[in-house]
Amino acid sequence: MNFKGKDIISIKDFSKKEIDYILEYAKKMVPYAKGEKYTDALKGKILSSLFFEPSTRTRLSFESSMNRLGGRSIGFADPSATSQKKGESLADTIRMADAYSDIIVIRHPQEGAARLAAEFSEAPVLNAGDGAGHHPTQCLLDLFTIFTEKKHIGKNNIVLLGDLKYGRTVHSLAYALALYGAELTFVSPASLKMPKEVVEECNELGIEPIQTSILDKAVKDADVLYVTRIQKERFPDAEEYNKVVGSYKIDNKLLSTTKQKLIIMHPLPRVTEIDPEVDYTNHALYFKQAFNGIPVRMALLSLVSGGLL
Ligand code: CP
Repeated sequence: MNFKGKDIISIKDFSKKEIDYILEYAKKMVPYAKGEKYTDALKGKILSSLFFEPSTRTRLSFESSMNRLGGRSIGFADPSATSQKKGESLADTIRMADAYSDIIVIRHPQEGAARLAAEFSEAPVLNAGDGAGHHPTQCLLDLFTIFTEKKHIGKNNIVLLGDLKYGRTVHSLAYALALYGAELTFVSPASLKMPKEVVEECNELGIEPIQTSILDKAVKDADVLYVTRIQKERFPDAEEYNKVVGSYKIDNKLLSTTKQKLIIMHPLPRVTEIDPEVDYTNHALYFKQAFNGIPVRMALLSLVSGGLL
């Protein structure tokens, strides 16, 4: 399977077979991600890390992954310190990153920005989140987490909870989980339901997700509970945000009613939707999930460079 030079814009750019291949490849990266093994497979290669929106995990884990592979990274986390401030277009910024590096990672508030960036770059472009659009590398690390914890992805009862309207990670994930045949329940306030197009995509893949606003019943038989933050920054109206903030809170009381092997995932950052007391239970997988960003992103950086490890 050849991924050399491939742009990674949406999880829909991959077949199930290709996703399986990436997940197996990522498994091999784990000892390197932990620093137990060393490689300089990407020695001499440079990653441009262009973050037009805040990030902790995605930016740091991409940069760490590049370092773990023996490469280097350049870039910015604050676009106001770049020539965008002087009116430079996204296309020209991308042309420069293409001239200065071998791989480009971009996060941008506008949906479609990564696809546009790929049009102006010879170097492969990896989408690190475009508005409420896609976040394919998050989706892959979510799949990797379920795959490594549960040994398979389909055959799980999976609840996606929270802001299903604006939360980009759940859009990609719902599609991918449907591709694997997982049983899906979408739990959200009525105003933050999963977009119709995503539900239809699941239907086309033979999955009929249950949609509800009531968490207690949905979570009882779940194997995986994927929690999301209400995406305050994407609400056009503060009043609407205030109506739904704090709709759900995962705590130990709720967990006393669930399966013992239920795993709780969250793309992070979390705000109030998971009580910190949950961190100390066996259900809490979200920090391990965030670590999994390293082997998965190492795999992707290596694969788009020609499978150098
Ligand atoms: N999960 C995720 O995208 O986190 P950051 O916004 O911190 O990158």
